[in-house]
Amino acid sequence: MATRLIFNLPPTNQTTYKYFATCDPPSSLTSNPILLRSFRFHKNHSQLSVNTARRRRRPSSSLQTQDVQDNPNPGKLVLVVGATGGVGQLVVASLLSRNIRSRLLIRDLEKGRALFGEQYDKDLDVVVGDTRNPEDLNPAMFKDVSHVICCTGTTAFPSKRWDGENTPEKVDWEGVRNFVSSLPTTVKRLVHVSSVGVTKCNSLLWSIMNLFGVLKYKKMGEDFVINAGIPFTIIRPGRLTDGPYTSYDLNTLLKATAGVRRAVIIGQGDKLQGETSRHVVAEACIQALDIECTRGQIYEINSIEGEGPENDVDKWVNLFKDAATNK
Ligand SMILES: NC(=O)c1ccc[n+]([C@@H]2O[C@H](COP(=O)([O-])OP(=O)(O)OC[C@H]3O[C@@H](n4cnc5c(N)ncnc54)[C@H](OP(=O)(O)O)[C@@H]3O)[C@@H](O)[C@H]2O)c1
Repeated sequence: MATRLIFNLPPTNQTTYKYFATCDPPSSLTSNPILLRSFRFHKNHSQLSVNTARRRRRPSSSLQTQDVQDNPNPGKLVLVVGATGGVGQLVVASLLSRNIRSRLLIRDLEKGRALFGEQYDKDLDVVVGDTRNPEDLNPAMFKDVSHVICCTGTTAFPSKRWDGENTPEKVDWEGVRNFVSSLPTTVKRLVHVSSVGVTKCNSLLWSIMNLFGVLKYKKMGEDFVINAGIPFTIIRPGRLTDGPYTSYDLNTLLKATAGVRRAVIIGQGDKLQGETSRHVVAEACIQALDIECTRGQIYEINSIEGEGPENDVDKWVNLFKDAATNK
């Protein structure tokens, strides 16, 4: 796809920059209007909002009409924090396929553009901020947000992703504290992705995983979520499989699956410890936004071989309800 970016910069004493991007559609889309996006960068708040100038209901390219559901709740706006991550990308793609509005809180605009930029022609709101910096998290970012999925994280052990002190302490504790503190009290559900083992960080094996504090800081993040006064659901996956997909477009993401391991086990009481597909985590997060019995609950989640609930709401309701029996 050929892409032209036209940068329209105002005088430097103004704080708003406008970027206009035009993308020539692939030949399969020549019947569609040319995608035109306007990007408004609010310099004062390190924030970028991306709005499509042409508002269309359908995601573009190879996404088939039958893949896209009618929007069940037009007033719903889901803030996805950590949208460029493995789980986050799948959440964004899945919300898009459901025709549910989302706003993406990301750190790196170029990374976001590479992952999502020219993949669809539906409205996409992007706000740029680092959860470690409270000053990045201004109230305008959260305007109209009704639901939140937080799937930020970093590596458990020192890696390049810790550059600039992006450590578990900063991301899983301070970052979570900062952004949850910034949320409006009108948010109807905050779904927060944590990890199995957070209550056992001092016991053998888990203490190895916790050598640099990841489980301790994730538990501190959880506790902050629990006490924030916002209806919450905490999802604790085991070791993640499938993805992250670093060079996939949204259509490809939607077609990726958990292979033969699509069945789901949900437990409570931090007893589960197996593997979990990122696809399953993303779907669990989206389902938990609306399933009332998940309010105020903490779930561990694993993937095993077998048929899964896919996106069947009734099956997810039963899985969440039965979780107590897997304590
Ligand atoms: N990996 C596992 O086996 C495992 C097991 C249990 C639980 N978990 C947890 O499951 C969740 C999802 O995992 P994943 O592998 O999908 O995550 P991931 O690919 O590592 O993505 C993490 C996301 O968090 C964002 N992020 C990191 N630091 C940030 C900051 N300071 N401010 C704002 N955003 C920041 C990243 O942005 P950038 O793209 O800019 O870096 C990225 O979008 C995480 O909480 C993870 O800890 C993982």
